[in-house]
Amino acid sequence: MATAQSFRTHTCGELRPEHVGQRVTLAGWVHRRRDHGHLSFFDLRDRYGITQVVTSADEAPAAHQAAAESRNEWVIQVSGAVRHRPEGTTNVELPTGEVEVAVDELTVLNESKVPPFYVNEEQPGLEEALRLQYRYLDLRRPPMRERMLLRARLASAVRRELERDDFVEIETPLLIRSTPEGARDFVVPARLQPGNFYALPQSPQQLKQLLMVAGYDRYYQMAHCMRDEDSRKDRGPEFTQVDIEMSFVREEDVIATVEAMVIAVSREVVPDRPIQEAPFPRLTYEEALVRYGSDKPDLRFGMPLCDLREAVTNVEFRVFADALSGGGAVYAIRAPGCASYSRRQLDELTDLARRHGAGGLVHLSVEADGSLRGPAAKFLGGAEASVQAATGAEAGDLLLVVADSDRVAAATALGQLRLEMGDRLGLRDPSVLAYVWVHRFPMFKWDRDLGRWDATHNPFSAPVWEEAEQMEADPGSIHAQQYDLALNGWELGGGSIRIHRRDLLERAFALMGHTIAGMRDQFGALLDALEYGAPPHGGIAIGLERWCALLANQDNIREVTAFPKTQSGSDLMLSAPSPIDDQQLADLHLRVNLED
Ligand code: AMO
Repeated sequence: MATAQSFRTHTCGELRPEHVGQRVTLAGWVHRRRDHGHLSFFDLRDRYGITQVVTSADEAPAAHQAAAESRNEWVIQVSGAVRHRPEGTTNVELPTGEVEVAVDELTVLNESKVPPFYVNEEQPGLEEALRLQYRYLDLRRPPMRERMLLRARLASAVRRELERDDFVEIETPLLIRSTPEGARDFVVPARLQPGNFYALPQSPQQLKQLLMVAGYDRYYQMAHCMRDEDSRKDRGPEFTQVDIEMSFVREEDVIATVEAMVIAVSREVVPDRPIQEAPFPRLTYEEALVRYGSDKPDLRFGMPLCDLREAVTNVEFRVFADALSGGGAVYAIRAPGCASYSRRQLDELTDLARRHGAGGLVHLSVEADGSLRGPAAKFLGGAEASVQAATGAEAGDLLLVVADSDRVAAATALGQLRLEMGDRLGLRDPSVLAYVWVHRFPMFKWDRDLGRWDATHNPFSAPVWEEAEQMEADPGSIHAQQYDLALNGWELGGGSIRIHRRDLLERAFALMGHTIAGMRDQFGALLDALEYGAPPHGGIAIGLERWCALLANQDNIREVTAFPKTQSGSDLMLSAPSPIDDQQLADLHLRVNLED
């Protein structure tokens, strides 16, 4: 056993009835202690688990005295014989629960101050700031430890699967030149070249493509990525990608390879969580949008969006008529059994719809006689039957309807309501893993602020080859060979087949407003490399924290990150970021200007 060293013969997770009678030495933290006068019981904890150890005033007075002085979170070493626990005191919750160690020697290796929060039990309302400041104590807590170990098993399984499949891990530098991935760069001043800066990678996108040109046709890397953007539950300033790139592949090949890896890894790492559907379902972006109001749909439940265009065409309700005449849409979802929702519940849903961009929310309850009730019901004269037919609504159901002259906005707002109703109705089964591919994204989207087309994913994605000729004539109609992998409503990964010809990449960049000189400046290496025998290639990157959080049923990636930053980007333990001293600034030829 690799853990049997001079300090200990076994770990705290190891002892079983077959060890009874052996003399062992354990080392760990005092997790919990119970004093019974002449007997003291300790739960001794380490990374591997918890073992009960007992000292007796009669049998080993010196050890018992030392035990009496020990406190929670002290580090101790104990030696003694393993024995069965007395009848009726077995702990079935613990793998070591059938045995205990009768201690004859106890050494205090180090004392501990009283921790600022309980390590040995859940503490409702525990402030996150405190957890982050004392992260080394937080990481001791068993649920945190389970998540850290899950993350390690996940990364290890990914590596094994990919390497079995001939992928090679190649590291790429952290000090690079910016690759646009849609966020701001973190930059590092170059001391040896005053006035110049490195950018930390938002992803190794260009480098992995250059590795394809170099002939390393199946590359992967656990890539550390940095993006200076606002944090959210599923987004942090630094994170890890399972970054993959392959040559001589079409979309189909990348999807098949990644899907096989994801299935094998999921089955290994969380064997008790069923995969809802394999092969994973595939939806086009358009299908995902009009059915689920999202490009990362949660497929653990149905409740699809219904298009009410036909059903309400002749209705004289301004909200609907304006949306339809403005080129938009009227979508509905049916929430079964929710007809009796209170005023307050409906207000909450209306607020939610507004927060997600809807102008408002129309709600209609289906009465026992089939009629519709709600503030807008009176405007629907004649259309009740067609609305019910379109939605499949039955007595007792609640219909939630969003109309907007921007159909994407209408669908997106209703998609959020769908998720909310899924939560409220308990339809998002926490055990199931519903992976789904979404592909055929529009290649370009019009950026109103910049007044130009921009890439939907990253600017290196290839158009569907047959559509490439239309690129300049009708950019809005072109689709990219881009695919996202979603899991339970989160985007897990994204990738694409890349443009491997210089002329086509220059055309795409030009459409996005780049000048020839600008392109040379920003993407010179990649553009040049495409002229030296670049093979057809494509890849994907999966967010490791997001994957791990979902496998651990957590809704925040900080819960699966050892040392995360706060929402505002601080490391509360190390107090970063922090000012640097004048000499450091001078060495870097920098002056700080806090005025604007
Ligand atoms: P993309 O930007 O879609 O693609 O990122 C891929 C995946 O990385 C994860 N991710 C994040 N996780 C935590 N915090 C963040 N700030 C964050 N940003 C992204 C997500 C996301 O799906 N170079 C391309 C990949 C490619 O085309 O091969 C890229 O980075 O899970």
